[in-house]
Amino acid sequence: MSEYETIEVRTENRVGYLTLNRPKALNALNEQLVRELAAAAIALDGDENIGAIVITGSEKAFAAGADIKEMARKDYTDIAANGLFEDIRALDRLRTPTIAAVSGYALGGGCELAMACDLIIAADSATFGQPEINLSIIPGLGGTQRLPRAIGAYKAADLVLTARTMDAAEAERAGLVSRVVPAAELLSTATEVAETIAAKSLPAVYAAKAALKAAQEGSLAGGLSFESQAAAGTFALEDQTEGMTAFAEKRKPHFQHR
Ligand code: HXC
Repeated sequence: MSEYETIEVRTENRVGYLTLNRPKALNALNEQLVRELAAAAIALDGDENIGAIVITGSEKAFAAGADIKEMARKDYTDIAANGLFEDIRALDRLRTPTIAAVSGYALGGGCELAMACDLIIAADSATFGQPEINLSIIPGLGGTQRLPRAIGAYKAADLVLTARTMDAAEAERAGLVSRVVPAAELLSTATEVAETIAAKSLPAVYAAKAALKAAQEGSLAGGLSFESQAAAGTFALEDQTEGMTAFAEKRKPHFQHR
């Protein structure tokens, strides 16, 4: 029996899959789901045999937001004292690349969960938005920070202030989504991308992800400095020697993840 009630976890070919599983609530994020998702992601991140993590939902909903029925009971003091879904921050600390495979609704906290991943692959049925303003709240899990960085200040303001949603095609044009595929191909595409990443040298992938995150978080000068240190660090890897030797010998590299 799984130790989790609101998510399903499986691993295959160096990839961990976390599937949100609250179908009756369109995978709305409640405290338990976020806690379980964080715990499962941390466990996969600590496993050297895992090189990428896919987070996905159902065909109808990646996640339709934070659980409004659970949140409705909370007041300012509850949230100020206890936070709200703080566990989701664990995703920011993962070394392993995360891929959101989004079908159907990715609204509010669902869109924020997708944006907490490194790549977003969307089914053509996907819908993205930050409709919190309709509930007289604002995004609280990164929506006002990550969305403008991804799609620009003015388009983000349109979504956050009017609550309008974007379909997958618009989200791809705007730069939120890495790839759009037919719904039936969502999981196979996410698997292909995840297995491609997981086949690379793990420490080199960790370094690349850390440098990409630095680009999102800091100044250009700080990011360039971080990148040059991290790039120098990859030359300490045995896999660097193997990768370059294999290129010169016109063969596939055999990475040891060292
Ligand atoms: C709790 C939810 C839910 C949610 C859907 N459900 N979204 N329950 N929280 N976010 C439940 C419905 O109540 C319903 O339960 C069942 O899921 C199916 O939903 P329907 O509305 O019947 O489906 P449909 O008509 O297809 O409409 C789909 C939908 C709509 C457009 C996605 O459900 C919707 O607008 N949901 C809310 C989206 C939203 O506002 N998200 C942002 C939340 S705020 P029953 O029991 O009736 O069958 C947020 C803040 C994060 O995320 C950060 C805070 C700090």
